[in-house]
Amino acid sequence: MHHSTPTPFPSRPSPHRPSAEPASQTFDAIILGAGAAGLFCAAQAGKAGLRILLIDHARKLAEKIRISGGGRSNFTNRDLDPRAPQRHYLSQNAHFCRSALSRFTPQDFVALVQAHGIGFHEKHKGQLFCDHSSNDLIDMLDRLCQQQRVQRWQHCRIERVDFQPAADNAPEHPPAHGHYQIHTERGLATAPRLVVATGGLSIPKIGASDLGYRIARQFGIGLIEQRPGLVPLTFDAPTWHPFKSLAGISLPARIATGVGKNATHFDEDLLFTHRGLSGPGILQISSYWQPGQPLCIDLLPGLDLTASLQQARQHSRKLLANELAQWLPARLAQTWTQQSPAWQQPIDQTADKALRQLADSLQQWHITPSGTEGYAKAEVTLGGVDTRALSSQSMECRQQPGLFFIGEVLDVTGWLGGYNFQWAWASAHACAQAL
Ligand code: FDA
Repeated sequence: MHHSTPTPFPSRPSPHRPSAEPASQTFDAIILGAGAAGLFCAAQAGKAGLRILLIDHARKLAEKIRISGGGRSNFTNRDLDPRAPQRHYLSQNAHFCRSALSRFTPQDFVALVQAHGIGFHEKHKGQLFCDHSSNDLIDMLDRLCQQQRVQRWQHCRIERVDFQPAADNAPEHPPAHGHYQIHTERGLATAPRLVVATGGLSIPKIGASDLGYRIARQFGIGLIEQRPGLVPLTFDAPTWHPFKSLAGISLPARIATGVGKNATHFDEDLLFTHRGLSGPGILQISSYWQPGQPLCIDLLPGLDLTASLQQARQHSRKLLANELAQWLPARLAQTWTQQSPAWQQPIDQTADKALRQLADSLQQWHITPSGTEGYAKAEVTLGGVDTRALSSQSMECRQQPGLFFIGEVLDVTGWLGGYNFQWAWASAHACAQAL
């Protein structure tokens, strides 16, 4: 495959900056994207003695780490089982991530965090957060890179990526298949290995771009269609009208979608918003939800509401809404019962059928989202570079030697709860070992 034809990338106006670097430099490997995966890969590869250049177009370093986990970064998850990655990761190639995840585990990252004196705590379901701030993590990664003399061109626009195949008689040691030439606003950088760690499409305002996907296309590597994941769900105005006033209410729920072997559910909190539903349970199910499919929500998981209401009816004369308020937030109980005149009676005057219908409406609430809040609010991007084109050992493209993809740009998407960062660390580690 010959790829010396330049691919034009759309340009943005370049701020005038004096050029400190020489016009062209050569490295052992160039990493595009100084986020979680890029920084960790650079630090590891630098430790092995390689001359590494990291390039990122964002003004500030690793903004996504900074804003993650509400500013405290949920950096891994103790519950991850690398032998069963499909439990916590979505991918068209379910077992691809197993090798990398088992060679660099949550315990390995925890050991690193501990060695750097960063305090952390477990919050919920194995999720580990920084005690103080996600800046501690960024500083650690930055320090590791500096110790290994990783060069970083930050706030540097990448203009073009070319590949020059090696001449048959090239005197290279070790033999290189060719060279990647990265044209940037700071000049040309060249290396026999290129690592693409440019992440997904979520939160464009802090630097997300489709560069990684464009590079994959340029080299004939397949893509799995991308869509927002871990994202709030929205509803059309008439569907949402009865629930609009519930914005701000949060409660535990069982949220399900899909049928047959595609059925999935999460037992997590659900949050009502002005435009629809959010909260951890909704973010989790959003990665599995397919447009047009309904959600089935149980707002009182673990309770037999029909039986509980029938029992209450034997001794209570309260309005149904007031009775319901012993299990549900009062504002929710009030609003919910307004949906039917039959539910606005004292409980002792409410027919059995109406009680049953009320219980069903709360415990088998079928509602179909019209869409999602999109990449502006999504924590991750589903889909991406098709992992079937890559070695699961090294993250290197089989058809294009020297080209690697790591982190979220790949079609590997974790659950909420630290699984996405663990994939970034593990895939970066696997790649660094192979550089
Ligand atoms: P990442 O996005 O970290 O880095 C990509 C880098 O490439 C960026 O620095 C970007 O500027 C750069 N880049 C992109 N296009 C470029 C271009 N054209 N030229 C040059 N550079 C370019 N996960 C988790 O496990 N726990 C959590 O708590 C959270 N919380 C969270 C909150 C929010 C609000 C979001 C949006 C996301 C999370 N995540 C998360 C997800 C997690 O942040 C994400 O999966 C990882 O950061 C992915 O790491 P990468 O290194 O692959 O991409």
